[in-house]
Amino acid sequence: MTHRVRGVIARSKGAPVETTTVLVPDPGPGEALVQVQACGVCHTDLHYREGGINDEFPFLLGHEAAGVVEAVGPDVTGVAPGDFVVLNWRAVCGTCRACKRGRPWYCFATHNAAQPMTLEDGTRLSPALGIGAFAEKTLVAAGQCTKVDPAASPAVAGLLGCGVMAGLGAALNTGNVGRGDSVAVIGCGGVGNAAVAGARLAGAAKIIAVDLDDRKLRWARQLGATHTVNGRTEDVVKAIQELTGGHGADVVIEAVGRPETYQQAFYARDLAGTVVLVGVPTPEMKLELPLLDVFGRGGALKSSWYGDCLPERDFPMLIDLYLQGRLDLGAFVSETVPLDGVEEAFTRMERGEVLRSVVTF
Ligand SMILES: NC(=O)c1ccc[n+]([C@@H]2O[C@H](COP(=O)([O-])OP(=O)(O)OC[C@H]3O[C@@H](n4cnc5c(N)ncnc54)[C@H](O)[C@@H]3O)[C@@H](O)[C@H]2O)c1
Ligand SMILES: [Zn+2]
Ligand SMILES: [Zn+2]
Repeated sequence: MTHRVRGVIARSKGAPVETTTVLVPDPGPGEALVQVQACGVCHTDLHYREGGINDEFPFLLGHEAAGVVEAVGPDVTGVAPGDFVVLNWRAVCGTCRACKRGRPWYCFATHNAAQPMTLEDGTRLSPALGIGAFAEKTLVAAGQCTKVDPAASPAVAGLLGCGVMAGLGAALNTGNVGRGDSVAVIGCGGVGNAAVAGARLAGAAKIIAVDLDDRKLRWARQLGATHTVNGRTEDVVKAIQELTGGHGADVVIEAVGRPETYQQAFYARDLAGTVVLVGVPTPEMKLELPLLDVFGRGGALKSSWYGDCLPERDFPMLIDLYLQGRLDLGAFVSETVPLDGVEEAFTRMERGEVLRSVVTF
């Protein structure tokens, strides 16, 4: 059987997104059909629409989602119809060189659905991050479904599927923030503010939030920032150094994805400190740094893909912390919008009016 559902696609580079009919096949071996209940609007969806990720248009957008498994294909044992799940884009393979070495969070051969979702004329859709959840139903690999406590609302739980997990994990996993550390986060959208929340959860003593927008900085305070710096009016590197006894922060998380903010992160870090790049740059961006500074300042320059998370390990744990009142995931949901509200949500994201808009069904 083929399911005819409404979905949001990006047909060509830079064009506004469209809501249209999408054909979703029944799950085959290893696949699951998920009835989507909520899907957050992430900056990466906008990168797709602008052709910044690749040229495989048309895209079925949306990838920060939670929903209920409707059907599973043959041989699927990990999830069953009725399960409340968060969709992930790291269904680890268990057999690639990273998995074999015991580092599955780097898995280089993650699973996605084998069958394509299509337009009515048969055109194959490229689902964003192998998910495509701005749709009433989506088809994924069963391993992309992570069961979590159904007491969490779908709008909140779905956010762990991408940006919020990326930010939390940039602090908790990649940055390895520990008790007493000083942490600076540059760019406090959904991802950066999740890094702020992650730093608080890890016991950081000082958390410095940097953005160009005071609204974002107010949210950062709410999520655990002890200090804020507005990069429009202040010298970011100097301000972070002054707030850390003249030294710089132990861990600086870049959540914008631009060379100039990366340079700020590089120089705002203490000797032997760590820079974590979680913001996604575009192909034309270049970084220039004196090699002597790279050597002389020591420490670690790391990139964080999806917060180095393991969905099966991290999603249920973070949902439990949320339900216990120890992690304010609800603060990330600025508004809920209908499926045909994605284009306007992009505009609000660009204007900085929201941490996350979440499409609810
Ligand atoms: N690494 C990953 O796995 C991963 C996952 C999801 C998203 N991302 C990326 O993370 C980045 C942030 O995503 P988001 O959803 O939070 O986007 P967003 O647009 O909501 O947030 C970006 C923030 O950066 C701020 N900003 C812009 N220029 C700045 C500057 N010069 N100095 C300080 N702040 C500045 C903006 O005001 C905004 O608050 C994007 O590049 C996104 O693609 C990465
Ligand atoms: Zn693997
Ligand atoms: Zn995302």
